[in-house]
Amino acid sequence: MSMLLNGDRLILGTCYYPEHWPETMWKADLERMLENGIEVIRIAEFAWSKIELREGEFDYSFFDRFLDVAEQTDIKVIFCTPTATPPAWLTEKYPEVLNATIDGVLYRHGARRHYNYNAPIYRELSARIVEKSASHYAGRKCIIGWQIDNELNCERNEFYSEADSAAFRVFLKKKYGTLDALNEAWGTVFWNQTYTDWEELHVPRTTVSYSTNPHEVLDYTRFISDSCRSYCLMQSEIIRRYLKSGDFITTNGMFGNVDNHKMTGESLDFYMYDSYPNFAYCLDAYKDVPGDLQDRKWSRNLTEVRSISPKFGIMEQQSGANGWNTRMEAPTPRPGQLTLWTMQSVAHGADYVSYFRWRTCTFGTEIYWHGILDYSGRENRRLREVREVAGKFRAISEAAGSVYEAKVGILKDYDNIWDAQLDVWHGRVESASQKALFAAAQKSHTPVDFVYIDNTDLENLKKYTVLFYPHASIISEERAELLREYVEAGGTLVVGCRSGYKDMNGKCVMEKLPGLLSELTGTDIPEYSFIAPDAGKVTVNWDGTEFEAAVFADLLEPVGNGKLEASYTSDYYAGSGALISCRAGKGTAYYYGSAWTEESARIFLEKLQVISPYEGIIELPETCEIAVRRKEGAAYLFVLNYKKTPAELTLRTEGTDLYTGSRVSGKVTLDGYGTMVIKL
Ligand code: GAL
Repeated sequence: MSMLLNGDRLILGTCYYPEHWPETMWKADLERMLENGIEVIRIAEFAWSKIELREGEFDYSFFDRFLDVAEQTDIKVIFCTPTATPPAWLTEKYPEVLNATIDGVLYRHGARRHYNYNAPIYRELSARIVEKSASHYAGRKCIIGWQIDNELNCERNEFYSEADSAAFRVFLKKKYGTLDALNEAWGTVFWNQTYTDWEELHVPRTTVSYSTNPHEVLDYTRFISDSCRSYCLMQSEIIRRYLKSGDFITTNGMFGNVDNHKMTGESLDFYMYDSYPNFAYCLDAYKDVPGDLQDRKWSRNLTEVRSISPKFGIMEQQSGANGWNTRMEAPTPRPGQLTLWTMQSVAHGADYVSYFRWRTCTFGTEIYWHGILDYSGRENRRLREVREVAGKFRAISEAAGSVYEAKVGILKDYDNIWDAQLDVWHGRVESASQKALFAAAQKSHTPVDFVYIDNTDLENLKKYTVLFYPHASIISEERAELLREYVEAGGTLVVGCRSGYKDMNGKCVMEKLPGLLSELTGTDIPEYSFIAPDAGKVTVNWDGTEFEAAVFADLLEPVGNGKLEASYTSDYYAGSGALISCRAGKGTAYYYGSAWTEESARIFLEKLQVISPYEGIIELPETCEIAVRRKEGAAYLFVLNYKKTPAELTLRTEGTDLYTGSRVSGKVTLDGYGTMVIKL
């Protein structure tokens, strides 16, 4: 069994680049890591030319020498495949491997992730370097696992090369069989887009007013996801042939336009996330009004990661200032923030945390992307903080393997995520509701899970008292059936406006809305509209509680078992239904005709009686986050203070402060950026 994520203990690591430093520094660096509590390093993800300097000439001596040093010092290694940065010889000789802009201009050598997943020669050369690396290095004692590539779909997650068009045609032929079926699915009769030959099909290209057939773009996004997944699977299958028993395969992310759930299921032992909460303090972020949750938004990303991979680690955790020489300027983490962000990862379920990076690079684009150490490598505040984290990890290590607890789930699926990316009506309601639900849940200390509907089953859904499926515009019969089973088994389902109006191709349905969800929710929608900017505040009254509707108003009428719960109270919407409930079996389905604001999300959590489940245990300000991880009867309560000023907590029960080992109860002061782990 791998030493990572086996439920045994929490482990610290860091990212190291032997190719950036004189060989004479290696040994001292590795020894110093171990002295400071770092036991694992991740290496080689951009080092193709250190193994194949010229086409077909392989030389393993560089990493052989490094792995010898690793073995002498007894540090453990995660070895990477180097395909994120193809060498200059490769892209110069085979420019067809390059990705392109939507106008077909190639992304040239000099940055990273400039390749596409579909050029046959890139697949071939990638397979060869992976095979050579895995067959040569995988047996090494110090290696404990492999990372595939680096951040698949980072930098660019759209691909417009000729190779992509060719592969898109193959994808479409397989999906539709005939052009007639494709034309029908995409509604190409609109604007005379009808295709008569497969060669007429391309990945999206520059068009007038940048509008490409939406059903085509939805398929194109599915195609990108498939391309990325199959590229990852190709590497995984090769590595697996050489993997030592107990070693793992992973990759790091998380980026758009790929079904990370399927990719993890088919190619990886677990997924790893790269967590950089300092982006909240980037100068760019302040161009818009900064959200009051700032770095807590990374808790939302961690919730997403937990859904992809219940067991996960952090391959890159923020340790210093952000910055390329051209963008992404953010300050050095303040004293305590490195620990806070590390514990944020652990609170959400990570049992392995690896800092990016050990030393800050003295050259190249990332000279300002600071690691633990500065350019000189001298002892500093961040290294001291890492040492303290190592101590904390030892103190709370028994929490390893415990599972994050949530009774509220937010359902998601990739079809709707990708549709909302493109479709502005769908996108606006989705983004408003996701922000609102997250903020209301965070500030009321209501833990939430994301649940991907195609990646779950009834048994798993039954763990949740309430499931929100904010705007399931696209719905299939299979998904609708699972929702019905969940409700009949006693669950509470809440869907928001614009649900059920599209089929799996993203085409609007002609049935009474909300289409496949009409019967379950007891709802009919005879009329709907965007809330016009001049409409003022559109309000809803739910049993005397008045709140504001957001973005959109579906005007509802109950049908079947539907019961009117709330109505609009303003504009011409006044008197029309805003919320309908419908009993089915032992549970209830709700249809809410609008998108959520933070205020209305909070009211829903309250009325459905799932808000603040730990109120009886702890009282704390909104500016702190709590998480409970549970295993074998033990509960570990994580408290994280995101503010630089101290927070006053009241523990209504007695527990053990695992950092100090002492019993705590009553009033407790948590330092600015402070964290606590209390065993209950
Ligand atoms: C990550 C990436 C690292 C490094 C870091 C800082 O996205 O995996 O290689 O670039 O960001 O920019």
